Amino acid sequence: MTIDYTWWKDASIYQIWPASYKDSNGDGIGDIPGIISELDYIKDLGVDIIWLSPMYKSPMEDMGYDISDYEDINPDFGTLQDMQDLIDGCHTRGLKIICDLVVNHTSSEHEWFKESRSSLDSPKRDWYIWKKPKYDAEGNRQPPNNWMSYFSGSAWEYDETTGEYYLRLFAKGQPDLNWENEECRKAIYDSALKFWLDRGVDGFRIDVAGFYSKDQSFGDAPIFFKDQIYQPSKSLTSNGPRIHEFHKEMTREVISKYDVMTVGEMCHWNKEEALKYVGASRKEMNMMFIFDLVELGCENSDRFLYSHWNLLDFKNAVQNQSDFIKGSDAWSTVFIENHDQPRCVTRFGNDKKHHAASAKLLAMLQTTLTGTLFIYQGQEIGMTNLPKSWSIEEYKDVYTTNYYKEFVKKYENEPDFEDKKSKLMDVINLVARDHSRSPVQWSAARYGGFSTVEPWTQVNDNYPEINVKLQQHNPDSVLRFYQQSLKLRKQYKDLFIYGSFEILDYDNEKVFTYVKESGSDVLPKAYVVLNFSGDKVEFTPLIKGDFKLVSSNVMESEFEQSSLSPFEGRIYIVE
Ligand code: GLC
Ligand code: CA
Repeated sequence: MTIDYTWWKDASIYQIWPASYKDSNGDGIGDIPGIISELDYIKDLGVDIIWLSPMYKSPMEDMGYDISDYEDINPDFGTLQDMQDLIDGCHTRGLKIICDLVVNHTSSEHEWFKESRSSLDSPKRDWYIWKKPKYDAEGNRQPPNNWMSYFSGSAWEYDETTGEYYLRLFAKGQPDLNWENEECRKAIYDSALKFWLDRGVDGFRIDVAGFYSKDQSFGDAPIFFKDQIYQPSKSLTSNGPRIHEFHKEMTREVISKYDVMTVGEMCHWNKEEALKYVGASRKEMNMMFIFDLVELGCENSDRFLYSHWNLLDFKNAVQNQSDFIKGSDAWSTVFIENHDQPRCVTRFGNDKKHHAASAKLLAMLQTTLTGTLFIYQGQEIGMTNLPKSWSIEEYKDVYTTNYYKEFVKKYENEPDFEDKKSKLMDVINLVARDHSRSPVQWSAARYGGFSTVEPWTQVNDNYPEINVKLQQHNPDSVLRFYQQSLKLRKQYKDLFIYGSFEILDYDNEKVFTYVKESGSDVLPKAYVVLNFSGDKVEFTPLIKGDFKLVSSNVMESEFEQSSLSPFEGRIYIVE
């Protein structure tokens, strides 16, 4: 088998969420010059590409995923010149940079939307999705259908100016663009894509890439939550009838003209559907993010309906994300954190008793799986979720706050409200998006060295113990371990990046063991064994061969050949 090496397959990608990366000018908000000041740190980590979350002009209702001008920068983050300096600064260091492409919707402050909403016969009226109200039996005005917003409540917003509703699957200020309109699509290509590709950007992470084509009947969605009016609209708004035509057009008209990469945010998919987006011969996107692992234990349509997970579910999720490309020409991704997810060491490890060991264990898992690897800012030092003691007032994300408000409205008069509320707070404390959005902990200085003034959102209390500076000086730190693991991934790339993946001892509820093999029989295999439990467990190799240990997350003095300590992991090369 010949391996199709490609730069974006080989790459390790580091995601930066600008508001919380580094503040350079003492206003408490992270910014582009702050990122530029850490480019050497990023290079040193051993990654190849930066994925920058939205830095565009935005009223920040959804932290920049509500864009009011694709061709300008949020003044809190810097200027167009700063952005050019960042692009150039990456390139001179041999790094690439991709941006977020948010084109399912704009901000309601975008000029396009302002024109669209101004009158029924505005030339841009049809660039967004407008519908007439419905009226119930009592004559009350109602939204055109029962679709639910991802951020709670109806997905439709009434607009007084023309007496119609506009669709907004996310926040109030995020009207959905009408991809059915060709002129609108062309404007998107020019403004959101070409503008940046011509300035040297190396590709895009495509926001909600399955949502552009809506079912044009705009009928009601099936009832999923019996106790509420508004319902998940996925069957009518995701994977719609023209979605592949739109992706193909965008690739043909724009993306294919540059040597760039694309990765789509896709949520939950079956294999057959997924391959239509990322099969190489389909010429749509290079790869996609699937949420099986990060949303483990969460209800697909409502992450705060959380049950639990066990290691078998975990293995299954990893396998799904990796195996769907088997026997196809498609490519996959590896990730366990991003700006929409909590911190993996809290969620899947033990961030108190075994902080370093479990953060390193997750690094071993991530750096040995097949696909393009994505690491989120702070993951490399094992940043944790926000403290349990923080109240709802500390949570800033519109997803969390809207959900909480709706929850209070729905249950406040019930006798067990306090009990329900405290259960919800436990779930928020585990899976809210806010956990990944606290400022990066650079040092033990006040505000974690992120800023010289009080940041826009609080720094996690544990910055004196968990921070970059401390870890740079400690050869056994999580940060150093990530550096080594990223090197090892490249050293054995045929096995780790491009290799096959086979789980052994599937039913083991404490230990995750798998073998990575390259296509050829002559080359060695990798044997990865990860103890995901807080217990000491026995270890005997499950395959024959000559085992050479190439990575371990315990001190040499504590290493016992025949047992694994809590959260101990090992990577062997077997000949
Ligand atoms: C994606 C982004 C998320 C955002 C949403 C709406 O899921 O990752 O942060 O809120 O799209 O743009
Ligand atoms: Ca700043």
